[in-house]
Amino acid sequence: MPFDFDQAVPRENTDSVKYDLREKLFGREDIIPMWVADMDFRVPPAVSQAIHERANHGIYGYSIRPEGFYDSAISWMDKRHGWQVARDWLTFSPGIVPGVNLAIMGLTAPGDKIMIQPPVYFPFFDAIKKNDRQLAENRLILRNGRYYVDLEDFERQLQGGVRMFILSNPHNPGGSVWTRQELEDMGNLCLQYGATIIADEIHCDIVFPGYRYTPMASISEEIASQTLTFIAPSKTFNIAGLSTSVGIISDSSLRREFNRMLDRIHIGHGNIFGTVALQAAYNHGGEWLDQLLVYLKQNLELIEHYIHERLDGVKLIRPEGTYLAWLDCRELPLENDRINRFMIEQAGVGLNDGASFGENGQGFQRLNFGCPRSTLQKVLENLDHAIRNI
Ligand SMILES: Cc1ncc(COP(=O)(O)O)c(C=O)c1O
Repeated sequence: MPFDFDQAVPRENTDSVKYDLREKLFGREDIIPMWVADMDFRVPPAVSQAIHERANHGIYGYSIRPEGFYDSAISWMDKRHGWQVARDWLTFSPGIVPGVNLAIMGLTAPGDKIMIQPPVYFPFFDAIKKNDRQLAENRLILRNGRYYVDLEDFERQLQGGVRMFILSNPHNPGGSVWTRQELEDMGNLCLQYGATIIADEIHCDIVFPGYRYTPMASISEEIASQTLTFIAPSKTFNIAGLSTSVGIISDSSLRREFNRMLDRIHIGHGNIFGTVALQAAYNHGGEWLDQLLVYLKQNLELIEHYIHERLDGVKLIRPEGTYLAWLDCRELPLENDRINRFMIEQAGVGLNDGASFGENGQGFQRLNFGCPRSTLQKVLENLDHAIRNI
């Protein structure tokens, strides 16, 4: 059955972060929001049906997560990604950012060094700083339109006493789907220097043809024994508002510590609708996702075409995965700190300012292309018009 990703679904006045915070964040209510990473598509019908059925019961008391919750995640990771995970390894987190924070609190101490790879998802910076840990930056290297790991620097940072490394795989916003070799190199160095790995693999299901997601913890048992992996149906199936994700931790002492943190602040029970939605998505969402991936690839090709033909001064860092396009705007005839205002005021588009992903994100903008083609077309036309009139 073909799903309709062209349908524009109004999201204003639904308490949507992406839509209903525009005035507050961008100073204008009429910009086209292409920033925060949720999509403008309705979820797979199986997901809304499951939520409706549960809602119809009319009682939403304290609830457990049934075994089916874990089975569906196990089966999804196996069928979709060829990674066999054992039931024992699985735990819950009410979101991936909370999971990252809990892991930091449980497995490191104030003052410890934690390494990330900017330009990178900005809540990683916050998670480190707000927990009074020290930030260690292993900046990615942009070469021929792709971000690579600077392995020499990676090792130097580990030698400098890094205790934990937070990986984004596939990488947000750089779009690299890390290869087995890249993961093996990073993983083995973390093993050698005893750094725990947090593998944030939330974007693992959105990967374009020609690339393949490899879970960091699937590289070797040794690497797995030092890794906490987080996955979720939230990006893939557009259910981020249901705050439901899964931790995959093969090492029993790391798992115990993580679960202890969940217990300590008593947030392990999750929510009923997230539990139901995860199962429906993983059990019945495969075909919807296959079609979504085709649609997203066409959106990406449209962006690529537009940039190539019309948007002088903008380069696309072509993502291998994720629905986030990282635009290099450093050759626009504007000061770096003007680019953001330009996008809002001249183009009428709300993007993520690259500088929020780290210093080496200056001059870049992140564009979320998880939207109907007509919206994307309008955004690209606005950009074209605005750039011509600089
Ligand atoms: C790399 C990455 N991790 C985590 C999240 C958010 O996870 P959650 O909403 O489950 O906390 C996002 C959302 O954009 C993301 O891009």
